[in-house]
Amino acid sequence: MPRKTKLGRICLPAAVLSMVWALPALSANSCARCHPKEVEGYLSAPMAHSLAPTGLGPSGTFYHPISSTRFKIMRSDAQMTQVIERGGVTSQYRIAYSIGSGAHAFAYIVQIGNHLFESPLSYYAGYGWGMSPGYEKLEDPDFYRAIRPQCLYCHAGEARPIPGTLNAYQDPPFKAEGIDCQRCHGPAEAHLRDPVRGSIINPAKLAPRARDSVCEQCHLAGAARIPNPNRQLSDFRAGENLEDVFTVYVYRSSRDPAHPNALTVISQSQQLALSRCARQSGGRLWCGTCHDPHAVPENPVAYYRARCLSCHGAALLKTHPKPDEDCIGCHMPRLPAARGGHTIFTDHRIAIYTSRELAELRSASLLNSSAPASGDDVLVPWHDPPTKFAERNLGLAYVRVGSQLESFRMVRRGYNLLFSAGKNFPNDPALLRALGQIVSGAKNEAAAEALFERVIAAEPDSALVYYDMALAAETAGDTNTAIRYFEKTLQLDPLLVDPYRHLGRLYAANHQFALAHRNYVRFLKAFPENLEAKMDVLKTSEPAARR
Ligand code: HEC
Ligand code: HEC
Ligand code: HEC
Ligand code: HEC
Ligand code: HEC
Ligand code: HEC
Ligand code: HEC
Repeated sequence: MPRKTKLGRICLPAAVLSMVWALPALSANSCARCHPKEVEGYLSAPMAHSLAPTGLGPSGTFYHPISSTRFKIMRSDAQMTQVIERGGVTSQYRIAYSIGSGAHAFAYIVQIGNHLFESPLSYYAGYGWGMSPGYEKLEDPDFYRAIRPQCLYCHAGEARPIPGTLNAYQDPPFKAEGIDCQRCHGPAEAHLRDPVRGSIINPAKLAPRARDSVCEQCHLAGAARIPNPNRQLSDFRAGENLEDVFTVYVYRSSRDPAHPNALTVISQSQQLALSRCARQSGGRLWCGTCHDPHAVPENPVAYYRARCLSCHGAALLKTHPKPDEDCIGCHMPRLPAARGGHTIFTDHRIAIYTSRELAELRSASLLNSSAPASGDDVLVPWHDPPTKFAERNLGLAYVRVGSQLESFRMVRRGYNLLFSAGKNFPNDPALLRALGQIVSGAKNEAAAEALFERVIAAEPDSALVYYDMALAAETAGDTNTAIRYFEKTLQLDPLLVDPYRHLGRLYAANHQFALAHRNYVRFLKAFPENLEAKMDVLKTSEPAARR
């Protein structure tokens, strides 16, 4: 079913659309018998098609000048193959899944063993083939970036990650591919036994915090999302408050309505909260006021105008300068997103702009980064977690964001919070691991190892913790211990890319060239199409390299 393009808002080639909407229905069959209208309506909306078990998009080619890499995309009815060529070496991957309905873009997943990895290529509606977000400036793009459970938490109905791994999944990796009814309505067993009102969650009937949490699961990325002790994001069930399971942290300046926050792809919740409509309507305004997940509006201009007037009413029409026109065109303009590239999204701040401001906003000059106000490095919870977790969760958020941004101040703030919270959480793996990583960065190998040993006690056989231990030893210059722990990491999970790189370097630095070569042979065996592994094996096979 093609989407309305009245506002020129969504522009996909017809060929792509027909492929998207022809997808099989999701796990909604058990509801269709009694709720045909909701099921059919939902299946016509992009959210139902958030992930597909095939490669969607057209055939084509793409050249990435920064890395001198050539890509070729070959699509047939049955499958999509992406070919990558750099420095005379060529590889190819069969696409296992597409992420996205294509409304803005498709990203692609390949499966190697039971691990999922992201393609460096994405397809953008109205732009065509391009690098995936975050790959634009890489000099060695390849199919090596792990698809972590966090990514699929927002894009799949239900993924089945293997706990404690970076990107290993059960077979099959998904229980539900597209986002399904349960993500907003909670578990349905009780309702199927006793199908009446009240036996299943209706988001519109929840208290405001639980109601908003339903959409915030996925439409509020924040700077960091920190699960409570012994919980993971996917433990959340519609009906709960997000903070019962995890806390979202945002920059303090992003809560100031006067601050020109950059528009990011996953920020509708944050933007809406800044609007005067939300701030002055006593919790009445929420996503569901304007969006019905089971229906795509036939005529968006008239549909949204009616939503605005449900509050602003007839009085406004008498005083307002141009009451008959497209409300959202002036108050909720479409703007280029700061991240995600090549796509534009709707400004949910519902503000008054002069025509000059609108032109400036549309030109993206104000929106070139998703960073907070300059100098702001203070994180605050979107909503407070239970008091007993406040210090721990905030500490973890600072460490996470601080390490990403390489901000020593933020990491130190995180360390102090975690150090103080530690007495209440003596065996918390997440806390101990974060402390270990900080101490390891400070080259204190013994202290780091002691902390990681305590994590291993709680999570034996975690490849990721042995990897941390290896890094701690490597940072401290203890090559032999580092080699031992990297080897242990690969023994537990041979489908991690980075340990092979470290080992290759460490063996070479130790003049153990045969071992370095054997390491790359093993790398290639695990990742038969990896360009770097292919080149490394070639390079280290040359007699000169082994001298
Ligand atoms: C055997 C028929 C039947 C099946 C199957 C069924 N429902 Fe219902 N559902 C009902 C009835 C009857 C009501 C009450 C409608 C009313 O009172 O107007 C209802 C109400 C609801 C409500 C509103 C609840 C409220 O308190 O406002 C939701 C949401 C809902 N169903 C979701 C689902 C979902 C999701 C599924 C599939 C997992 C499903 N239903 C399967 C019959 C069914
Ligand atoms: C499980 C994650 C998840 C939840 C929960 C969720 N969304 Fe979405 N939503 C997405 C994703 C992913 C997309 C993009 C789909 C695509 O085009 O691939 C999306 C797209 C949308 C869109 C634009 C396209 C469309 O389908 O109309 C709207 C509007 C939307 N969501 C509203 C909501 C509202 C309202 C709620 C809460 C009632 C909600 N979403 C809950 C993940 C989610
Ligand atoms: C916090 C939740 C969240 C996370 C994490 C997340 N996304 Fe998204 N993503 C969304 C939502 C929501 C949208 C829809 C945005 C909109 O329409 O405004 C989206 C949009 C997209 C789109 C465009 C979809 C379309 O049909 O146009 C792609 C592609 C995408 N994301 C890929 C990814 C990949 C790949 C990852 C992980 C590496 C990821 N996202 C991580 C929530 C998330
Ligand atoms: C993205 C979130 C989301 C998804 C996915 C979703 N719903 Fe809903 N559903 C809602 C919201 C929000 C409401 C409340 C709408 C309102 O009354 O404003 C609702 C209400 C309903 C109702 C009650 C309607 C009424 O008139 O009281 C039924 C029935 C229903 N949904 C069935 C389904 C079924 C079946 C599916 C899967 C095919 C589904 N929903 C998927 C968010 C969702
Ligand atoms: C749930 C009720 C509600 C809905 C729905 C709603 N608003 Fe509002 N809006 C308010 C309230 C309350 C205020 C603050 C008091 C006022 O200015 O009337 C407000 C203020 C505004 C303002 C003034 C903003 C400023 O910064 O001074 C604009 C513009 C506006 N709304 C436009 C819209 C548009 C456009 C829509 C539809 C897309 C809409 N509103 C939907 C409740 C709502
Ligand atoms: C006052 C009305 C209003 C409210 C409230 C509202 N939206 Fe929207 N939303 C819109 C309009 C208007 C569009 C653009 C629709 C179009 O282009 O057809 C839109 C578009 C979207 C899209 C599509 C991608 C984009 O940005 O263009 C997503 C996703 C979305 N909204 C999510 C949400 C979520 C999540 C909430 C709650 C936090 C929410 N919206 C609350 C009016 C609203
Ligand atoms: C052509 C652009 C444009 C359109 C279309 C438009 N507005 Fe406005 N709106 C403005 C401007 C500019 C202001 C500030 C006017 C002023 O300060 O005198 C404003 C002010 C407002 C205000 C706050 C001032 C007040 O009078 O209470 C609200 C609420 C509002 N608009 C809602 C709406 C709604 C609802 C619609 C659709 C029925 C709409 N607007 C259509 C440009 C527009």
